[in-house]
Amino acid sequence: MARIQQHYSLKAHNSFGLEATARAFCTVETVEELQTILHTEARRFAEVRILGGGSNILLTGDVSALVIGIGIRGMTVLSEAEETIEVEVSAGEIWDDWVQYAVEQDWGGMENLSLIPGSVGASPVQNIGAYGVELRESVVAVKGLKRSSGEPFVLRNAECAFAYRDSIFKQALREQVVITSVILRLRKHPESKHLRTEYGAVEQEITRLFPELTTQERSIYHVREAVCSIRRSKLPDPAFIGNAGSFFKNPEVPIALYRAITQTYPEAPSYTVSDSTVKLPAAWLIEQCGWKGKRLNPSSGAAVHDKQALVLVNHGTARGEEILELSRCIQRDVEERFGVVLSAEVNVW
Ligand code: EPU
Repeated sequence: MARIQQHYSLKAHNSFGLEATARAFCTVETVEELQTILHTEARRFAEVRILGGGSNILLTGDVSALVIGIGIRGMTVLSEAEETIEVEVSAGEIWDDWVQYAVEQDWGGMENLSLIPGSVGASPVQNIGAYGVELRESVVAVKGLKRSSGEPFVLRNAECAFAYRDSIFKQALREQVVITSVILRLRKHPESKHLRTEYGAVEQEITRLFPELTTQERSIYHVREAVCSIRRSKLPDPAFIGNAGSFFKNPEVPIALYRAITQTYPEAPSYTVSDSTVKLPAAWLIEQCGWKGKRLNPSSGAAVHDKQALVLVNHGTARGEEILELSRCIQRDVEERFGVVLSAEVNVW
């Protein structure tokens, strides 16, 4: 059975690299082990928290809960049809290791989601997305256990309430379940016409990296290389600079508000969502407020990344509270200047 450790440091378990102690911590390596813990030890604690890769959390202090790290590994092919394959991937697998494996097998659908930090189990929670693709497009079902009873559940895609950086796991089932695996449907041997390069930068980056390649010769390998290259150039590597990717969601605003903004800022970028709403890049709003590359104050390690204003970073010495304070200053300035409310994408513990 999983060993429970008291007063356990979470520094190595959060990509911001923040120091915080969990009252108790354990790692489970099988679904059965998780079920046992939920039935026994977990009942002694007022609160239980589940930790995946720790790449989307901000720790603002010590954690009084039992923290369960999900170390369930493995992958099983469930079924194959002529053009598609269904694979069950365990929650504890590292997301990008899985993407790399899928690309090596020539299974398409994951490549635009290359290099996203975190674990497979966390991926459906916020319906990870990048470069024009969201996870929900490949999800068949999500499996897990109910936290209170340890009882297994399976939710089909349509039951997961997937939306932009959102799902039932962030809403009605928040803190209610533990995801143990995700079943994905991928395309076997995708052709160039199946590739998703419409997100401008991907198209340009493939051409830059592989100038000799014709459009027909392109494969998911080339898309992965392009996405990895773009991400490496803009997003800080948590191994060197603590961060949790985008700190805020891109806000969806009424078209009237967007028009009002363009009176002063005719160049304001936007993405159409519906007839009445547009999405604004939060990074642009933050940059306009002068926060790009700035620190909370000169002596603080809490800062806005200098190459992507949507990413808050820990330059080594920041405390979680400082990063939270920085995020509040940014929210206040963006709301004052644009009348737009930014909501955090990162989970604050
Ligand atoms: N921009 C700025 N300043 C910046 C950066 C960007 O003004 O410092 C503006 C530009 O107009 C740019 C636009 O913002 O064209 C969009 O920037 P980018 O393509 O970098 O994407 P994003 O909207 O900032 C989203 C995701 C990222 C994902 C990228 C690429 C969210 C919250 N974030 O960022 O996801 O990698 O698109 O698809 O939707 C993450 O969730 O952790 C994450 C990194």
